[in-house]
Amino acid sequence: MFKILERETLAEHINKFVVEAPLIAKKALPGQFVILRLHEKGERIPITICEADPEKGTITLVVQEVGKTTYELGTYQAGDEIADIIGPLGKPAEIEKVGTVVAIGGGVGTAIVYPEAKAFKEKGNYVISIIGFRSKRFVILEEEMRKVSDELYVTTDDGSYGMKGFVSDKLKELIEEGRKIDLVIAIGPAIMMKVVSDLTRPYGIKTIVSLNSIMVDGTGMCGACRVEVGGKTRFACVDGPEFDGHQVDFDLLIKRLAMYKEEERIALERYLKERGKA
Ligand code: FAD
Ligand code: FES
Ligand code: MG
Repeated sequence: MFKILERETLAEHINKFVVEAPLIAKKALPGQFVILRLHEKGERIPITICEADPEKGTITLVVQEVGKTTYELGTYQAGDEIADIIGPLGKPAEIEKVGTVVAIGGGVGTAIVYPEAKAFKEKGNYVISIIGFRSKRFVILEEEMRKVSDELYVTTDDGSYGMKGFVSDKLKELIEEGRKIDLVIAIGPAIMMKVVSDLTRPYGIKTIVSLNSIMVDGTGMCGACRVEVGGKTRFACVDGPEFDGHQVDFDLLIKRLAMYKEEERIALERYLKERGKA
């Protein structure tokens, strides 16, 4: 059992959990994730390790409520326990000194890009961060991102905070201003990572994305997370989750992410109905 020590609501439907997991905290590196199961009847879901504190023996998870399991996790409070957490899983991000790194986070993707922006900054890179949200009330981790960035830009789709537009609009502005960019890390919804990769491709700017494909075992055995990169089948859980964005077949990823939409809709509906009764 893994005890939740702290729980905080960061924005509407986005919660932060600090969980006691000393063995995972000792080994976790930026870019890695865990697979958790809330209880015996729960399904397995992958969540990125947003922060790890080996001294305190804790990991921090930032989770957006999108369906049955994440809604259920949203009801967990400090003192509650998560039945299983396995990890760290996946390949750690390659953190090198390259010069100027643009770290892009879309929505809850900001929590996933945060440890990487921090690690790139600690390696001596100049870090420009761009974080984007639907609206002001969904903005998360702005101060944390500011601390690890040399420049920080916030965008909102509706213009209620920061620049009106998408993260890719801000990136386009920087590229067109002639800023020298050595590496882009883009993490967020698949469509956002596709748009960013399409934008940087003609300029030859290396672009790394973190693929959020459906995962079950997380150890390369079940094949659920298969993606196509450079025309080859790869397993996001063990070969990734980070890949060269210019090589990823995003259309296939988007199609596969929607494979169980109907079952997921029914599961959430049933769960919310039962919760209403409880
Ligand atoms: P459902 O209604 O079951 O699903 C909603 C959508 O989530 C689906 O349409 C599908 O696209 C996706 N999804 C469903 N099941 C899975 C699954 N087993 N694996 C992956 N995607 C699934 N979310 C966060 O909020 N914070 C994170 O830090 C985070 N890190 C991730 C790291 C990785 C490596 C991956 C692959 C995904 C990550 N996600 C993260 C996404 C998170 O796993 C899904 O939002 C979650 O599984 C949805 O479960 P659900 O039952 O609440 O929703
Ligand atoms: Fe099963 Fe990757 S999740 S092979
Ligand atoms: Mg689910």
